[in-house]
Amino acid sequence: MNGKGKSLLSIFDFSRSDVEKIMGRSSEHREMGAMGAVGKSLEGKAVGLLFEKPSTRTRVSFEAAAAKLGAYPACIDSASTQINRGEPLEDTARVLSSYFDIVVMRTHGQERLETFASHSSVPVINALSDLEHPTQALADIFTIASHDIDISAFKLAYLGDGNNVANSLIGLSSVLGFDIVVATPPGREPDEAVVKMSGKSNGRAAHIIITDDPIAAVEDADVVYTDVWVSMGQEGSADSKSVFEPYQVNGELLSHAPPGTVVMHCLPAYRGEEITAEVMEDKRFIGFEQA
Ligand code: NVA
Repeated sequence: MNGKGKSLLSIFDFSRSDVEKIMGRSSEHREMGAMGAVGKSLEGKAVGLLFEKPSTRTRVSFEAAAAKLGAYPACIDSASTQINRGEPLEDTARVLSSYFDIVVMRTHGQERLETFASHSSVPVINALSDLEHPTQALADIFTIASHDIDISAFKLAYLGDGNNVANSLIGLSSVLGFDIVVATPPGREPDEAVVKMSGKSNGRAAHIIITDDPIAAVEDADVVYTDVWVSMGQEGSADSKSVFEPYQVNGELLSHAPPGTVVMHCLPAYRGEEITAEVMEDKRFIGFEQA
């Protein structure tokens, strides 16, 4: 926390009590929204949405939420700004933050977010970087809680690429204390520093298992989670997709999971790659509610 308010650059920036407060506020907003009675708590504010990669759910949900709460959301595609012409991010951050009350940013390297935030006079929210996707993890846990799952005592099995989404889920598991098993092909494991930091947080060993065995991962899982095999910006350097095939979330794999398991995907999904169309149309799939 600093004088300008709290940024969310990494899931590790938030404590258990921060996450609980966000979940409490989210429930209130959902109830108020259902009654058509969302308050204008952001009246007179302006929210900058600076995107350096494509986005559907993250950008539009922030945009709609800001508008419903009375703020003005300004969506900025970085390609249309002077960033594209080489203006230093430091200068862009100084200027944009003087127009907005908060900036939501989707970018490539985590260091770009850190540079922007350290030159910004307002808080910055990470709307996805190559390393993390913390707002996704928060929306995920809110959805999981809505399914009457105890968020500090359940098992999440993440299958596929050990990417930004996996990293933030691992971090969140250590903040909240749930168990996570990440099954990836060798060489596609989640970020080592994130795993190490998660093992140490809360002053205890977090229940984090990294394996290459997808079947063992889903046994006893309350939630089975997957994401694309190739993330945005990695298209050129991607491994052959065939290494991921044993990690596809399909009916056969789910036959090893308990019948009540729910299936999640941060979306967008490639049906037939990391998840089958059949699973996405199954009632166990809660990815659209999650979005
Ligand atoms: N891991 C994916 C998440 C998309 C929401 C990506 O970074 O492209």
